[in-house]
Amino acid sequence: MNTSLAAIVLAAGKGTRLKSGLIKVLHPAAGLPMISWPVAAARGAGADPIVLVVGHQATAVQSIFHGADDIRTAMQEEQLGTGHAVACALDALAGFRGTVLILCGDTPLLRPETLNALVAFHLNNRATLTVLTAVMDDPYGYGRVVRDETGQVKRIVEQKDADPHEQEIREINSGIYCLESDFLFGTIRTIGNDNAQGEYYLTDLVAIAVQQGLTCQAMATDDADEIMGVNDRAQLADAARILRRRINREHMLAGVSLIDPECTYIDHDVTIAADTVIHPGSQIGSGTVIGRQCQIDQNVSISDCIIGDGCHIKAGSVLEDSELGDNVSVGPMAHLRPGSVLHNYVKIGNFVETKKIVMGEGSKASHLTYLGDAEIGRNVNIGCGTITCNYDGVKKHRTVIGDGVFIGSDVQLVAPVTVGRDALVAAGTTVTIDVPPDSLALSRVPQVNKVGWCLKKKA
Ligand code: UD1
Ligand code: CA
Repeated sequence: MNTSLAAIVLAAGKGTRLKSGLIKVLHPAAGLPMISWPVAAARGAGADPIVLVVGHQATAVQSIFHGADDIRTAMQEEQLGTGHAVACALDALAGFRGTVLILCGDTPLLRPETLNALVAFHLNNRATLTVLTAVMDDPYGYGRVVRDETGQVKRIVEQKDADPHEQEIREINSGIYCLESDFLFGTIRTIGNDNAQGEYYLTDLVAIAVQQGLTCQAMATDDADEIMGVNDRAQLADAARILRRRINREHMLAGVSLIDPECTYIDHDVTIAADTVIHPGSQIGSGTVIGRQCQIDQNVSISDCIIGDGCHIKAGSVLEDSELGDNVSVGPMAHLRPGSVLHNYVKIGNFVETKKIVMGEGSKASHLTYLGDAEIGRNVNIGCGTITCNYDGVKKHRTVIGDGVFIGSDVQLVAPVTVGRDALVAAGTTVTIDVPPDSLALSRVPQVNKVGWCLKKKA
Protein backbone atom coordinates (compact mmCIF):
# COMPACT_ATOMS: atom_id res chain seq x y z
CA MET A 1 0.00 0.00 0.00
CA ASN A 2 1.12 3.49 -0.86
CA THR A 3 1.41 5.49 2.32
CA SER A 4 1.29 8.89 0.66
CA LEU A 5 -1.95 8.68 -1.26
CA ALA A 6 -4.62 11.36 -0.99
CA ALA A 7 -7.90 11.79 -2.83
CA ILE A 8 -10.03 14.70 -3.97
CA VAL A 9 -13.69 13.98 -4.63
CA LEU A 10 -15.66 16.61 -6.55
CA ALA A 11 -19.16 17.10 -5.21
CA ALA A 12 -19.94 20.80 -5.41
CA GLY A 13 -22.16 20.74 -8.48
CA LYS A 14 -25.93 20.92 -8.36
CA GLY A 15 -26.66 18.24 -10.88
CA THR A 16 -29.09 20.31 -12.94
CA ARG A 17 -29.90 17.41 -15.25
CA LEU A 18 -31.57 15.50 -12.39
CA LYS A 19 -34.17 18.29 -12.13
CA SER A 20 -34.34 17.88 -8.39
CA GLY A 21 -34.44 19.91 -5.21
CA LEU A 22 -31.76 17.55 -3.91
CA ILE A 23 -28.26 17.87 -5.36
CA LYS A 24 -27.03 15.00 -7.50
CA VAL A 25 -24.50 13.41 -5.15
CA LEU A 26 -27.09 13.17 -2.36
CA HIS A 27 -29.48 11.04 -4.41
CA PRO A 28 -29.44 7.52 -3.00
CA ALA A 29 -28.21 4.44 -4.84
CA ALA A 30 -28.62 1.05 -3.11
CA GLY A 31 -29.23 2.69 0.24
CA LEU A 32 -26.36 5.19 0.28
CA PRO A 33 -26.14 8.75 -0.98
CA MET A 34 -24.30 8.54 -4.30
CA ILE A 35 -21.25 10.41 -2.93
CA SER A 36 -20.62 7.65 -0.37
CA TRP A 37 -19.71 5.15 -3.07
CA PRO A 38 -16.67 6.91 -4.61
CA VAL A 39 -15.57 7.96 -1.11
CA ALA A 40 -15.71 4.30 -0.05
CA ALA A 41 -13.70 3.35 -3.15
CA ALA A 42 -11.04 5.97 -2.29
CA ARG A 43 -10.90 4.68 1.29
CA GLY A 44 -10.70 1.11 0.07
CA ALA A 45 -7.70 2.11 -2.04
CA GLY A 46 -6.02 3.52 1.06
CA ALA A 47 -6.35 7.23 0.31
CA ASP A 48 -6.00 9.45 3.39
CA PRO A 49 -6.88 12.25 3.59
CA ILE A 50 -9.88 12.47 1.29
CA VAL A 51 -10.86 16.03 0.42
CA LEU A 52 -14.47 16.55 -0.55
CA VAL A 53 -15.11 19.63 -2.63
CA VAL A 54 -18.55 20.83 -1.61
CA GLY A 55 -20.73 23.73 -2.72
CA HIS A 56 -24.47 23.27 -3.14
CA GLN A 57 -26.10 21.84 0.00
CA ALA A 58 -22.65 21.59 1.54
CA THR A 59 -23.87 20.99 5.10
CA ALA A 60 -25.93 17.99 4.02
CA VAL A 61 -22.95 16.49 2.21
CA GLN A 62 -20.66 17.16 5.18
CA SER A 63 -23.09 15.60 7.65
CA ILE A 64 -22.84 12.22 5.88
CA PHE A 65 -19.18 12.01 6.88
CA HIS A 66 -19.50 13.70 10.25
CA GLY A 67 -16.79 12.49 12.61
CA ALA A 68 -14.71 10.72 9.95
CA ASP A 69 -11.04 11.53 10.63
CA ASP A 70 -9.93 10.92 7.06
CA ILE A 71 -12.41 13.34 5.47
CA ARG A 72 -11.71 17.04 4.97
CA THR A 73 -13.97 19.39 3.13
CA ALA A 74 -13.19 22.33 0.87
CA MET A 75 -15.73 24.89 -0.19
CA GLN A 76 -16.26 25.85 -3.82
CA GLU A 77 -18.61 28.82 -3.55
CA GLU A 78 -19.20 29.17 -7.27
CA GLN A 79 -19.09 26.20 -9.62
CA LEU A 80 -16.70 27.42 -12.27
CA GLY A 81 -15.71 23.98 -13.52
CA THR A 82 -13.91 20.81 -12.45
CA GLY A 83 -10.46 22.46 -12.69
CA HIS A 84 -11.60 25.27 -10.41
CA ALA A 85 -13.10 22.71 -8.02
CA VAL A 86 -9.76 20.93 -7.67
CA ALA A 87 -7.97 24.25 -7.12
CA CYS A 88 -10.35 24.86 -4.20
CA ALA A 89 -9.16 21.60 -2.60
CA LEU A 90 -5.49 22.56 -2.46
CA ASP A 91 -5.56 24.39 0.87
CA ALA A 92 -7.06 21.33 2.49
CA LEU A 93 -4.08 19.34 1.12
CA ALA A 94 -1.44 21.85 2.22
CA GLY A 95 1.70 20.02 3.30
CA PHE A 96 0.76 16.81 1.53
CA ARG A 97 3.29 15.36 -0.90
CA GLY A 98 2.75 12.22 -2.89
CA THR A 99 0.17 10.80 -5.23
CA VAL A 100 -3.34 12.23 -5.52
CA LEU A 101 -6.44 10.53 -6.85
CA ILE A 102 -9.13 12.80 -8.27
CA LEU A 103 -12.64 11.35 -8.45
CA CYS A 104 -16.08 12.66 -9.27
CA GLY A 105 -18.89 12.33 -6.77
CA ASP A 106 -21.24 11.03 -9.46
CA THR A 107 -19.53 7.70 -10.23
CA PRO A 108 -21.15 5.28 -7.77
CA LEU A 109 -19.99 2.12 -9.54
CA LEU A 110 -16.27 2.71 -9.07
CA ARG A 111 -14.59 -0.07 -7.04
CA PRO A 112 -11.44 0.15 -4.87
CA GLU A 113 -9.82 -2.63 -6.94
CA THR A 114 -9.88 -0.36 -9.99
CA LEU A 115 -8.32 2.53 -8.08
CA ASN A 116 -5.63 0.17 -6.80
CA ALA A 117 -4.91 -0.90 -10.37
CA LEU A 118 -4.82 2.75 -11.49
CA VAL A 119 -2.35 3.73 -8.75
CA ALA A 120 -0.15 0.70 -9.46
CA PHE A 121 -0.16 1.46 -13.20
CA HIS A 122 0.69 5.11 -12.47
CA LEU A 123 3.57 4.25 -10.15
CA ASN A 124 4.97 1.49 -12.38
CA ASN A 125 5.06 3.89 -15.31
CA ARG A 126 6.56 6.63 -13.14
CA ALA A 127 3.87 8.82 -14.66
CA THR A 128 3.12 12.38 -13.66
CA LEU A 129 -0.52 12.06 -14.63
CA THR A 130 -2.59 8.99 -15.44
CA VAL A 131 -6.18 9.19 -16.56
CA LEU A 132 -8.59 6.28 -16.31
CA THR A 133 -10.44 5.75 -19.59
CA ALA A 134 -12.89 3.33 -21.15
CA VAL A 135 -14.03 2.51 -24.65
CA MET A 136 -17.77 3.02 -24.97
CA ASP A 137 -20.26 2.08 -27.66
CA ASP A 138 -22.04 5.35 -27.05
CA PRO A 139 -19.48 7.93 -25.89
CA TYR A 140 -21.91 10.86 -26.19
CA GLY A 141 -21.56 13.43 -23.42
CA TYR A 142 -18.16 12.34 -22.16
CA GLY A 143 -14.79 13.97 -22.76
CA ARG A 144 -12.84 12.12 -25.49
CA VAL A 145 -9.24 10.96 -25.22
CA VAL A 146 -7.24 12.30 -28.17
CA ARG A 147 -4.10 10.28 -28.94
CA ASP A 148 -1.36 10.98 -31.50
CA GLU A 149 -0.24 8.67 -34.36
CA THR A 150 1.95 6.70 -31.93
CA GLY A 151 -0.93 6.17 -29.53
CA GLN A 152 0.38 8.68 -26.99
CA VAL A 153 -2.27 10.63 -25.12
CA LYS A 154 -2.32 14.25 -26.30
CA ARG A 155 -5.28 15.86 -24.64
CA ILE A 156 -8.91 15.46 -23.65
CA VAL A 157 -11.64 17.25 -25.52
CA GLU A 158 -15.12 17.78 -24.07
CA GLN A 159 -18.22 16.79 -26.01
CA LYS A 160 -19.19 20.43 -26.51
CA ASP A 161 -15.74 21.38 -27.83
CA ALA A 162 -15.11 18.32 -29.97
CA ASP A 163 -15.05 18.61 -33.78
CA PRO A 164 -16.95 15.96 -35.79
CA HIS A 165 -13.79 13.88 -36.18
CA GLU A 166 -13.09 13.96 -32.41
CA GLN A 167 -16.72 13.12 -31.67
CA GLU A 168 -16.14 9.77 -33.34
CA ILE A 169 -13.53 8.81 -30.74
CA ARG A 170 -14.97 6.10 -28.50
CA GLU A 171 -12.32 6.22 -25.79
CA ILE A 172 -13.73 8.46 -23.06
CA ASN A 173 -12.42 10.23 -19.98
CA SER A 174 -13.81 8.67 -16.81
CA GLY A 175 -13.13 11.83 -14.81
CA ILE A 176 -10.86 9.74 -12.57
CA TYR A 177 -7.18 10.63 -12.41
CA CYS A 178 -4.03 9.77 -10.54
CA LEU A 179 -1.33 12.42 -10.44
CA GLU A 180 1.68 13.69 -8.54
CA SER A 181 1.04 16.44 -6.01
CA ASP A 182 3.93 18.64 -7.19
CA PHE A 183 2.53 18.76 -10.69
CA LEU A 184 -1.00 19.34 -9.41
CA PHE A 185 -0.05 22.17 -7.06
CA GLY A 186 2.14 23.79 -9.73
CA THR A 187 -0.31 23.74 -12.63
CA ILE A 188 -3.92 23.69 -11.47
CA ARG A 189 -4.18 27.48 -11.24
CA THR A 190 -2.77 27.95 -14.76
CA ILE A 191 -5.82 26.39 -16.41
CA GLY A 192 -7.90 28.82 -18.47
CA ASN A 193 -11.59 28.88 -19.34
CA ASP A 194 -11.52 29.61 -23.05
CA ASN A 195 -13.90 26.87 -24.16
CA ALA A 196 -17.51 26.24 -25.18
CA GLN A 197 -18.77 26.25 -21.58
CA GLY A 198 -16.52 29.03 -20.26
CA GLU A 199 -15.48 26.66 -17.46
CA TYR A 200 -12.11 25.76 -15.96
CA TYR A 201 -11.70 22.20 -17.23
CA LEU A 202 -9.65 19.84 -15.09
CA THR A 203 -9.13 17.82 -18.25
CA ASP A 204 -6.77 20.54 -19.54
CA LEU A 205 -4.10 19.15 -17.18
CA VAL A 206 -3.50 16.36 -19.69
CA ALA A 207 -2.44 18.74 -22.47
CA ILE A 208 -0.41 20.77 -19.96
CA ALA A 209 1.51 17.67 -18.80
CA VAL A 210 2.15 16.66 -22.43
CA GLN A 211 3.39 20.15 -23.34
CA GLN A 212 5.77 20.08 -20.38
CA GLY A 213 7.18 16.79 -21.67
CA LEU A 214 6.01 14.91 -18.60
CA THR A 215 4.81 11.31 -18.65
CA CYS A 216 1.08 11.30 -19.18
CA GLN A 217 -0.67 7.94 -19.44
CA ALA A 218 -4.14 6.59 -19.99
CA MET A 219 -5.21 3.33 -18.42
CA ALA A 220 -8.25 1.84 -20.13
CA THR A 221 -10.58 -0.18 -17.95
CA ASP A 222 -12.43 -3.05 -19.59
CA ASP A 223 -15.53 -2.48 -17.47
CA ALA A 224 -17.11 0.65 -18.89
CA ASP A 225 -20.04 0.30 -16.45
CA GLU A 226 -17.78 0.97 -13.55
CA ILE A 227 -16.87 4.50 -14.48
CA MET A 228 -20.33 5.48 -15.58
CA GLY A 229 -21.09 9.07 -14.54
CA VAL A 230 -24.64 9.68 -13.38
CA ASN A 231 -26.04 12.87 -14.87
CA ASP A 232 -29.80 12.20 -15.01
CA ARG A 233 -32.37 9.97 -13.33
CA ALA A 234 -32.31 7.35 -16.06
CA GLN A 235 -28.57 6.90 -15.50
CA LEU A 236 -29.17 6.88 -11.75
CA ALA A 237 -31.60 3.98 -12.15
CA ASP A 238 -29.10 2.14 -14.37
CA ALA A 239 -26.31 2.62 -11.83
CA ALA A 240 -28.52 1.52 -8.93
CA ARG A 241 -29.46 -1.63 -10.85
CA ILE A 242 -25.80 -2.50 -11.37
CA LEU A 243 -25.04 -1.89 -7.67
CA ARG A 244 -27.94 -4.16 -6.71
CA ARG A 245 -26.71 -6.87 -9.05
CA ARG A 246 -23.32 -6.78 -7.35
CA ILE A 247 -24.88 -6.88 -3.88
CA ASN A 248 -27.33 -9.66 -4.79
CA ARG A 249 -24.62 -11.75 -6.39
CA GLU A 250 -22.56 -11.63 -3.20
CA HIS A 251 -25.52 -12.80 -1.14
CA MET A 252 -26.28 -15.61 -3.57
CA LEU A 253 -22.67 -16.80 -3.56
CA ALA A 254 -22.84 -16.76 0.25
CA GLY A 255 -25.78 -19.18 0.22
CA VAL A 256 -28.86 -16.95 0.10
CA SER A 257 -31.57 -17.88 -2.45
CA LEU A 258 -33.08 -14.98 -4.37
CA ILE A 259 -36.02 -16.26 -6.40
CA ASP A 260 -35.68 -13.35 -8.85
CA PRO A 261 -32.55 -11.29 -8.17
CA GLU A 262 -33.52 -8.62 -10.71
CA CYS A 263 -36.58 -7.83 -8.59
CA THR A 264 -35.02 -8.03 -5.13
CA TYR A 265 -33.86 -4.77 -3.58
CA ILE A 266 -31.18 -5.27 -0.97
CA ASP A 267 -29.25 -2.21 0.15
CA HIS A 268 -25.58 -2.19 0.99
CA ASP A 269 -24.60 -3.37 4.49
CA VAL A 270 -27.25 -6.07 4.95
CA THR A 271 -26.23 -9.40 6.51
CA ILE A 272 -28.15 -12.53 5.52
CA ALA A 273 -27.20 -16.07 6.61
CA ALA A 274 -27.23 -19.11 4.36
CA ASP A 275 -30.38 -20.97 3.32
CA THR A 276 -32.60 -17.95 3.66
CA VAL A 277 -34.94 -17.55 0.71
CA ILE A 278 -36.14 -14.14 -0.51
CA HIS A 279 -39.05 -13.77 -2.90
CA PRO A 280 -39.43 -11.01 -5.51
CA GLY A 281 -40.43 -7.46 -4.73
CA SER A 282 -38.87 -7.42 -1.29
CA GLN A 283 -36.82 -4.47 -0.08
CA ILE A 284 -34.24 -4.83 2.64
CA GLY A 285 -32.63 -1.69 4.02
CA SER A 286 -29.09 -1.05 5.23
CA GLY A 287 -28.12 -2.34 8.64
CA THR A 288 -30.58 -5.24 8.65
CA VAL A 289 -29.38 -8.64 9.83
CA ILE A 290 -31.30 -11.80 8.86
CA GLY A 291 -30.50 -15.29 10.19
CA ARG A 292 -30.45 -18.73 8.60
CA GLN A 293 -33.32 -20.56 6.97
CA CYS A 294 -35.69 -17.64 6.98
CA GLN A 295 -38.30 -17.16 4.31
CA ILE A 296 -39.09 -13.63 3.18
CA ASP A 297 -42.17 -13.70 0.94
CA GLN A 298 -43.18 -11.30 -1.83
CA ASN A 299 -43.26 -7.53 -1.39
CA VAL A 300 -41.94 -7.43 2.13
CA SER A 301 -40.19 -4.27 3.28
CA ILE A 302 -37.61 -4.55 6.06
CA SER A 303 -35.50 -1.74 7.46
CA ASP A 304 -33.11 -1.63 10.44
CA CYS A 305 -34.21 -5.02 11.78
CA ILE A 306 -32.44 -7.91 13.44
CA ILE A 307 -34.12 -11.19 12.56
CA GLY A 308 -33.16 -14.58 14.01
CA ASP A 309 -33.11 -18.02 12.36
CA GLY A 310 -36.08 -19.82 10.85
CA CYS A 311 -38.38 -16.80 10.67
CA HIS A 312 -41.14 -16.51 8.10
CA ILE A 313 -42.09 -13.02 6.98
CA LYS A 314 -45.19 -13.32 4.85
CA ALA A 315 -46.23 -11.23 1.86
CA GLY A 316 -46.81 -7.52 2.10
CA SER A 317 -45.47 -7.03 5.61
CA VAL A 318 -43.52 -3.94 6.69
CA LEU A 319 -40.91 -4.31 9.44
CA GLU A 320 -39.13 -1.26 10.84
CA ASP A 321 -36.43 -1.05 13.48
CA SER A 322 -37.55 -4.24 15.23
CA GLU A 323 -35.94 -7.34 16.67
CA LEU A 324 -37.15 -10.89 16.09
CA GLY A 325 -35.92 -14.06 17.81
CA ASP A 326 -35.90 -17.47 16.11
CA ASN A 327 -38.88 -19.09 14.38
CA VAL A 328 -41.01 -15.98 14.50
CA SER A 329 -43.82 -15.70 11.98
CA VAL A 330 -45.08 -12.32 10.76
CA GLY A 331 -47.87 -11.45 8.32
CA PRO A 332 -49.19 -11.50 5.71
CA MET A 333 -49.84 -7.73 5.72
CA ALA A 334 -48.49 -7.07 9.20
CA HIS A 335 -46.75 -3.89 10.29
CA LEU A 336 -44.01 -3.99 12.91
CA ARG A 337 -43.26 -0.40 13.79
CA PRO A 338 -40.08 0.72 15.57
CA GLY A 339 -39.27 -0.90 18.89
CA SER A 340 -41.10 -4.18 18.41
CA VAL A 341 -39.21 -7.01 20.12
CA LEU A 342 -40.62 -10.46 19.39
CA HIS A 343 -39.08 -13.44 21.16
CA ASN A 344 -38.80 -16.99 19.78
CA TYR A 345 -41.90 -18.62 18.29
CA VAL A 346 -44.01 -15.46 18.42
CA LYS A 347 -46.73 -15.33 15.81
CA ILE A 348 -48.02 -12.03 14.41
CA GLY A 349 -50.81 -12.62 11.91
CA ASN A 350 -52.52 -10.62 9.21
CA PHE A 351 -53.46 -6.99 9.76
CA VAL A 352 -51.66 -6.76 13.08
CA GLU A 353 -49.76 -3.57 13.93
CA THR A 354 -47.22 -3.39 16.73
CA LYS A 355 -45.16 -0.53 18.14
CA LYS A 356 -42.74 -0.43 21.10
CA ILE A 357 -43.72 -3.81 22.47
CA VAL A 358 -41.99 -6.81 23.91
CA MET A 359 -43.71 -10.11 23.28
CA GLY A 360 -42.54 -13.22 25.12
CA GLU A 361 -41.78 -16.64 23.68
CA GLY A 362 -44.67 -18.46 22.06
CA SER A 363 -47.17 -15.60 22.27
CA LYS A 364 -49.61 -14.98 19.45
CA ALA A 365 -51.66 -12.16 17.97
CA SER A 366 -53.05 -13.82 14.90
CA HIS A 367 -55.50 -11.32 13.44
CA LEU A 368 -56.57 -7.67 13.22
CA THR A 369 -54.93 -6.19 16.28
CA TYR A 370 -53.08 -3.09 17.47
CA LEU A 371 -50.46 -3.58 20.17
CA GLY A 372 -48.56 -0.44 21.19
CA ASP A 373 -46.49 0.42 24.28
CA ALA A 374 -47.06 -3.02 25.75
CA GLU A 375 -45.13 -5.65 27.64
CA ILE A 376 -46.57 -9.06 26.88
CA GLY A 377 -45.37 -12.24 28.61
CA ARG A 378 -44.90 -15.77 27.29
CA ASN A 379 -47.59 -18.00 25.82
CA VAL A 380 -50.12 -15.22 25.69
CA ASN A 381 -52.99 -15.44 23.25
CA ILE A 382 -54.23 -12.11 21.94
CA GLY A 383 -57.65 -12.55 20.34
CA CYS A 384 -58.80 -11.09 17.05
CA GLY A 385 -59.60 -7.39 17.14
CA THR A 386 -57.75 -6.59 20.35
CA ILE A 387 -56.64 -3.00 20.83
CA THR A 388 -54.27 -1.50 23.35
CA CYS A 389 -55.74 1.97 23.87
CA ASN A 390 -52.35 3.51 24.61
CA TYR A 391 -53.03 7.14 23.83
CA ASP A 392 -55.30 9.46 25.79
CA GLY A 393 -54.85 12.32 23.38
CA VAL A 394 -51.95 13.78 25.37
CA LYS A 395 -49.74 10.98 26.65
CA LYS A 396 -48.89 7.38 25.79
CA HIS A 397 -49.52 4.74 28.49
CA ARG A 398 -48.32 1.15 28.95
CA THR A 399 -50.19 -2.10 28.96
CA VAL A 400 -48.68 -5.05 30.83
CA ILE A 401 -49.94 -8.59 30.15
CA GLY A 402 -48.56 -11.47 32.23
CA ASP A 403 -47.48 -14.96 31.11
CA GLY A 404 -50.17 -17.37 30.03
CA VAL A 405 -52.93 -14.75 29.71
CA PHE A 406 -55.79 -15.38 27.30
CA ILE A 407 -57.30 -12.24 25.78
CA GLY A 408 -60.55 -13.00 23.96
CA SER A 409 -61.65 -11.35 20.75
CA ASP A 410 -62.57 -7.68 20.49
CA VAL A 411 -60.99 -6.57 23.74
CA GLN A 412 -59.89 -3.02 24.47
CA LEU A 413 -57.15 -2.58 27.03
CA VAL A 414 -57.34 1.02 28.24
CA ALA A 415 -53.81 1.84 29.39
CA PRO A 416 -52.26 2.16 31.85
CA VAL A 417 -53.51 -1.28 32.80
CA THR A 418 -52.11 -4.64 33.91
CA VAL A 419 -53.53 -8.10 33.31
CA GLY A 420 -52.02 -10.57 35.80
CA ARG A 421 -50.56 -13.93 34.81
CA ASP A 422 -52.88 -16.72 33.67
CA ALA A 423 -55.89 -14.40 33.73
CA LEU A 424 -58.64 -14.61 31.14
CA VAL A 425 -60.24 -11.55 29.57
CA ALA A 426 -63.58 -12.44 28.02
CA ALA A 427 -64.45 -11.48 24.47
CA GLY A 428 -65.84 -7.99 24.08
CA THR A 429 -64.41 -6.72 27.36
CA THR A 430 -63.14 -3.18 27.84
CA VAL A 431 -60.43 -3.50 30.49
CA THR A 432 -60.14 -0.28 32.52
CA ILE A 433 -58.94 -1.65 35.87
CA ASP A 434 -56.10 -4.05 36.57
CA VAL A 435 -56.96 -7.75 36.39
CA PRO A 436 -55.46 -9.88 39.21
CA PRO A 437 -53.63 -13.11 38.26
CA ASP A 438 -55.72 -16.24 37.56
CA SER A 439 -58.91 -14.18 37.33
CA LEU A 440 -61.65 -13.73 34.76
CA ALA A 441 -62.34 -10.18 33.59
CA LEU A 442 -65.69 -9.60 31.99
CA SER A 443 -67.35 -6.30 31.11
CA ARG A 444 -70.34 -7.10 28.96
CA VAL A 445 -73.79 -5.58 28.92
CA PRO A 446 -76.05 -8.57 29.66
CA GLN A 447 -77.78 -9.77 26.54
CA VAL A 448 -81.56 -9.55 26.22
CA ASN A 449 -83.47 -11.72 23.73
CA LYS A 450 -86.88 -10.38 22.73
CA VAL A 451 -88.52 -13.46 21.29
CA GLY A 452 -90.53 -12.89 18.11
CA TRP A 453 -89.66 -9.17 18.00
CA CYS A 454 -88.66 -9.29 14.31
CA LEU A 455 -91.96 -10.80 13.26
CA LYS A 456 -93.82 -7.92 14.94
CA LYS A 457 -91.59 -5.38 13.21
CA LYS A 458 -92.33 -6.85 9.78
CA ALA A 459 -96.06 -6.86 10.49
C1 UD1 B 1 -16.59 15.48 -16.62
C2 UD1 B 1 -15.34 15.62 -17.49
C3 UD1 B 1 -15.49 14.73 -18.72
C4 UD1 B 1 -15.68 13.31 -18.27
C5 UD1 B 1 -16.87 13.19 -17.32
C6 UD1 B 1 -16.91 11.80 -16.70
C7 UD1 B 1 -14.49 17.89 -17.22
C8 UD1 B 1 -14.38 19.25 -17.82
N1 UD1 B 1 -15.18 17.01 -17.90
O1 UD1 B 1 -17.71 15.96 -17.36
O2 UD1 B 1 -14.31 14.81 -19.51
O3 UD1 B 1 -15.90 12.48 -19.41
O4 UD1 B 1 -16.76 14.12 -16.22
O5 UD1 B 1 -18.08 11.55 -15.98
O6 UD1 B 1 -13.93 17.66 -16.17
N2 UD1 B 1 -18.11 19.62 -10.02
C9 UD1 B 1 -17.72 20.47 -9.01
N3 UD1 B 1 -17.52 21.80 -9.28
C10 UD1 B 1 -17.68 22.30 -10.53
C11 UD1 B 1 -18.07 21.42 -11.58
C12 UD1 B 1 -18.28 20.08 -11.29
O7 UD1 B 1 -17.55 20.04 -7.88
O8 UD1 B 1 -17.46 23.50 -10.69
C13 UD1 B 1 -18.32 18.19 -9.70
C14 UD1 B 1 -19.76 17.75 -9.91
O9 UD1 B 1 -20.51 17.90 -8.71
C15 UD1 B 1 -19.60 16.30 -10.30
C16 UD1 B 1 -18.24 16.23 -10.95
O10 UD1 B 1 -17.55 17.41 -10.57
O11 UD1 B 1 -19.63 15.44 -9.16
C17 UD1 B 1 -18.31 16.13 -12.46
O12 UD1 B 1 -19.01 17.25 -12.96
P1 UD1 B 1 -19.99 17.12 -14.21
O13 UD1 B 1 -20.61 18.45 -14.43
O14 UD1 B 1 -20.90 15.96 -14.04
O15 UD1 B 1 -18.93 16.85 -15.37
P2 UD1 B 1 -19.21 16.20 -16.78
O16 UD1 B 1 -19.86 17.20 -17.65
O17 UD1 B 1 -19.90 14.91 -16.61
CA1 CA C 1 -20.75 13.75 -14.85
